[in-house]
Amino acid sequence: MLNWTIRPAVPADLEALTALEARFPSDRLRRESWRRFVGARSAEVWVADRAGSVAGDAVVLYRRNSRRARLYSLVVSDRCGGQGIGRALLRACEQAARLRDCRELRLEVRPDNATALALYQTSGYRVIRRREEFYEDGSAALLLGKTLEAATISSVRAGNFASSYA
Ligand SMILES: CC(C)(COP(=O)(O)OP(=O)(O)OC[C@H]1O[C@@H](n2cnc3c(N)ncnc32)[C@H](O)[C@@H]1OP(=O)(O)O)[C@@H](O)C(=O)NCCC(=O)NCCS
Repeated sequence: MLNWTIRPAVPADLEALTALEARFPSDRLRRESWRRFVGARSAEVWVADRAGSVAGDAVVLYRRNSRRARLYSLVVSDRCGGQGIGRALLRACEQAARLRDCRELRLEVRPDNATALALYQTSGYRVIRRREEFYEDGSAALLLGKTLEAATISSVRAGNFASSYA
């Protein structure tokens, strides 16, 4: 099994990020949206880099004067699934949000997305409410949230949200 690294996305990743959107049934981000997200102050795009290719990504959105961050997207390529990459990306997003002084991370997920729900629920997310007709294809979403502990000096020093995994 190859190692991977979690790192911030760069413009050279745009094509791979756009290609990964095929994993979503609707609400796919186009290249233009990725271009806006990568480098935006109000967004962070993290990629799982596996031997130089993008194995997954996650997007966190921030609002000025808000301590609530939003996990806007999380995806891992089909061929790299089940290896802990999704969980590592989620942890990287949580750590990044903490470092921006956020106290909560929220996200939406389809109620029938058992894999993602298992990941979120075993990572400490709770269901806040259901949102009807949330997605472009008319599907409902569950709104989930997790309270984030404040970043400690040691976690900042460790700075290990950009780490390598075996
Ligand atoms: C959800 C997703 C990001 C998980 O990524 P992943 O790298 O495969 O996940 P991990 O290997 O880190 O596993 C994390 C947890 O997900 C769950 N999981 C992973 N693969 C699973 C499977 N085939 N069946 C059921 N649960 C599964 C498990 O709870 C697992 O935890 P465990 O290994 O401790 O049992 C990935 O399946 C994906 O990209 N799906 C399509 C896009 C999507 O639905 N994104 C979420 C939108 S809200």
